[in-house]
Amino acid sequence: MCREFKAKSNVDQVVVLWTANTERYSDVIVGLNDTKDNLFKSLDRGESEISPSTLYAMACIHEKVPFINGSPQNTFVPGVIEYAILEDSLIGGDDFKSGQTKMKSVLVDFLVGAGIKPTSIVSYNHLGNNDGMNLSAPQTFRSKEISKSNVVDDMVASNAILYKQGEHPDHVVVIKYVPYVGDSKRAMDEYTSEIFMGGKNTIVMHNTCEDSLLAAPLILDLVILAELLTRIQMKQDQEDKFHSFHPVASLLSYLTKAPLVPPGTPVINALAKQRAMLENVFRACVGLSPENNMLMEYK
Ligand SMILES: NC(=O)c1ccc[n+]([C@@H]2O[C@H](COP(=O)([O-])OP(=O)(O)OC[C@H]3O[C@@H](n4cnc5c(N)ncnc54)[C@H](O)[C@@H]3O)[C@@H](O)[C@H]2O)c1
Repeated sequence: MCREFKAKSNVDQVVVLWTANTERYSDVIVGLNDTKDNLFKSLDRGESEISPSTLYAMACIHEKVPFINGSPQNTFVPGVIEYAILEDSLIGGDDFKSGQTKMKSVLVDFLVGAGIKPTSIVSYNHLGNNDGMNLSAPQTFRSKEISKSNVVDDMVASNAILYKQGEHPDHVVVIKYVPYVGDSKRAMDEYTSEIFMGGKNTIVMHNTCEDSLLAAPLILDLVILAELLTRIQMKQDQEDKFHSFHPVASLLSYLTKAPLVPPGTPVINALAKQRAMLENVFRACVGLSPENNMLMEYK
């Protein structure tokens, strides 16, 4: 399909982005999808646990076409990640960071950095579009719940004075289907934090916005960024050859709720850090040093 599209449309590069229905989570099972070889054997057997989005991803890797997952499910089972790394074919995801989670990855970073300790974060959503209907099935809701769940982890872990090892705020996400509101999604968040001298602070937010209009610009940015990343080559001082970035494109994490990163790499959810990473990489591409905000020339 990619090959045909490329030829017919006379374009230089194709990027595929999954923004189809949220799927249920696939079970990751040893012998089924845990390695590239097992995944291909399962494909030959027509195993039902291989999701449509995983099939699209495998086809794209085969064609060396970047594949981005804008939905929450685990399209990138370990076998797919191994395949992408072996073929050096770009993959990125998961789940557009469009509204509530984006706000969370700003606010919690600010609170924790300011020494204010969020102890309970509760997020309600209701929406009436097709995604809302789809998410009212428990299996697909579970995919969204998982993709939204880890967003505060790195920020909590960044302040060992506020949080003891293993301690984390209560974090609950609820999504309900309310047909009448259509695409005009409501997101309500309550952040309760402990402050100075045992005081408590509660911040409540109510956000109403067309869901599709939040997602569409992210889709464009993800595709443009992914294509650009395939053209950047780098090398460190001790390396003799230039090479591409790692095929698991953590640079797309600014735009995704549950950033996919190369195995063994820390996951950064804080929006400001994600943005600084992108900015500084692009500054390096045009020969500028990283922005450190010291403004020494004015000191
Ligand atoms: N703000 C947002 O809109 C937002 C934010 C984050 C994530 N997402 C995710 O983006 C995805 C799409 O959201 P939506 O509101 O456009 O959903 P939607 O249900 O309106 O549209 C999904 C489309 O995918 C098509 N589809 C289903 N299975 C397919 C397959 N196997 N191959 C090709 N097409 C298929 C359907 O026919 C439908 O047209 C969802 O997973 C959603 O969770 C959206």
